[in-house]
Amino acid sequence: MSTPRPRRSNLAVPGSSPKMLGKAQGLAADQVFLDLEDSVAPLAKEEARANVVAALNDGDWGGKVRTVRVNDLTTKWTYRDVITVVEGAGQNLDAIMLPKVQTAEQVVWLDLLLTQIEQVMGFDRRIGIEAQIENAKGLVNVDAIAGASERLETIIFGPADFMASINMKSLVVGAPHPDYNGDPYHYILMRILMAARTYDLQAIDGPYLQIKDVEGFTEVAKRSAALGFDGKWVLHPGQLDAANEVYSPSQEQYDHAELILDAYDFFTSEAGGKRGAAMLGDEMIDEASRKMALVIAGKGRAGGMARTSKFEPPAA
Ligand code: GLV
Ligand code: MG
Repeated sequence: MSTPRPRRSNLAVPGSSPKMLGKAQGLAADQVFLDLEDSVAPLAKEEARANVVAALNDGDWGGKVRTVRVNDLTTKWTYRDVITVVEGAGQNLDAIMLPKVQTAEQVVWLDLLLTQIEQVMGFDRRIGIEAQIENAKGLVNVDAIAGASERLETIIFGPADFMASINMKSLVVGAPHPDYNGDPYHYILMRILMAARTYDLQAIDGPYLQIKDVEGFTEVAKRSAALGFDGKWVLHPGQLDAANEVYSPSQEQYDHAELILDAYDFFTSEAGGKRGAAMLGDEMIDEASRKMALVIAGKGRAGGMARTSKFEPPAA
């Protein structure tokens, strides 16, 4: 697996608000997406494009992943969104997010358009693609969508549009309805996760709209993090710390993962007895333990964690 960019928190920033485009730069998000879609009113779409280009070129985003969400392909805005933003700020942009993706062909369209713009502009870097799954058709086609382009980096769940698409009842978007005795999102999240992992992409959970309810946000985030999701959208700075924490391993989990990697390295070596299965304290570790540890250690390292313990080989 490649080392992906950290995306524990992905902060939504409306492209129509120069004030928020300024403020977002100093916040502790792993990623920002500058929005041209649903947080921007139709009458403000054109000036939002210009705001976004200026914010990317002139702003200081401090190492954050920078994405722009364009309008979806059932609207008249998409092609000009892509051309204006990528021609105008392609050197300061990491990915284009395509919302409401329904078929693999829509991703291919974006891939080809990006290729042409990159050639014309002489860019020396490749812009990535993030695909939002927000309706029944998108979910039914998610495997083909996830495999549609080498540029894809993430598959994102869009719960608000999704619920509208399938007529799901809810009191709080992203949280289960009290009439349903179970987790109505489990299938959708797992479906997205399987497609993402098949193609080595990150799986990202969408927004939680009750922005003052950080406890509710944390609960919903923990659910997708437990399944294996890599991060979640953040609509308000108050949700940032919770996202960064929930999608990182704890210090204890991180230390333990690094310990397993060192211990397994040792036990499988000549000096360690060329053992494929060995005891680390009370735990039996083998090749599968190493794979699990690699995931946790990878997330910890990507989030800048430092280990606080060291593996000591047992005395001979
Ligand atoms: C996000 O775009 C959503 O629809 O939830
Ligand atoms: Mg949406």
